[in-house]
Amino acid sequence: MLELTDVEAGYGRTRVLHGVTVPAGKVVAVLGHNGAGKTTLLRLAIGLIKPAKGRVLFDGEDVSSLPPNKRVARGMAYVPQGQQSFGQLTTLENLQLVAGGRRRGRALIDAQLARFPALEKFAARKAGLLSGGQRQQLAIARALITEPRLLILDEPTEGIQPTIVAEIEQTIVQLAGEGIHVLLVEQHIGFALEAAERYVVLASGFVTQNGEGGSAAAATVRAAMAI
Ligand SMILES: Nc1ncnc2c1ncn2[C@@H]1O[C@H](COP(=O)(O)OP(=O)(O)O)[C@@H](O)[C@H]1O
Ligand SMILES: [Mg+2]
Repeated sequence: MLELTDVEAGYGRTRVLHGVTVPAGKVVAVLGHNGAGKTTLLRLAIGLIKPAKGRVLFDGEDVSSLPPNKRVARGMAYVPQGQQSFGQLTTLENLQLVAGGRRRGRALIDAQLARFPALEKFAARKAGLLSGGQRQQLAIARALITEPRLLILDEPTEGIQPTIVAEIEQTIVQLAGEGIHVLLVEQHIGFALEAAERYVVLASGFVTQNGEGGSAAAATVRAAMAI
């Protein structure tokens, strides 16, 4: 699926990522402190920024120079950090925006409303009035309407009330069970490693650690990140 090899990238002349390699995997967790370059890595994966060096591969194809919409057409979807939605539109309208042009649009919306009961309940409510957790679910639902094979999630549980954190974590595990690959940036190291097949730790734009996921990896990662 998605693979990054020896990537250098940044903004203008500022280099943020240095020789970053991310292996393919069903769920791949990207860990690291604030400012480490995690969001930049995800922007690179979806094509919002282009690598100065190295390659982004999707299903073996070099997509490094493809714009985001072409990557979405190939089966990638991106949920940015910060529970973004159109606050003045209702939950349903937010979903319709994405589903509108698609055959089976209504069925795709219904599938997501069934997945997220809170969204079904508040379908007619303005997205700006939803809780942070519900807006996060809405953002994930919107991405899923494009029927991605790879879902890219940037801190989906950041700033969200604990009860919904558990629901969102469950959703991620569920999606993996449905065969959707996930590239996950997450501060909850315990959960991220439990869910992940592979992980990388970023520090100042360098990969300082990588390996297989599983709960046993958590102690090693925590120790390394404490330095
Ligand atoms: N649009 C931007 N322009 C210039 N520098 C940026 C921009 N976005 C992020 N950076 C810088 O890139 C580095 C990594 O940021 P980011 O990828 O957001 O880290 P993380 O998601 O791990 O917190 C930081 O030093 C940040 O200041
Ligand atoms: Mg970030």
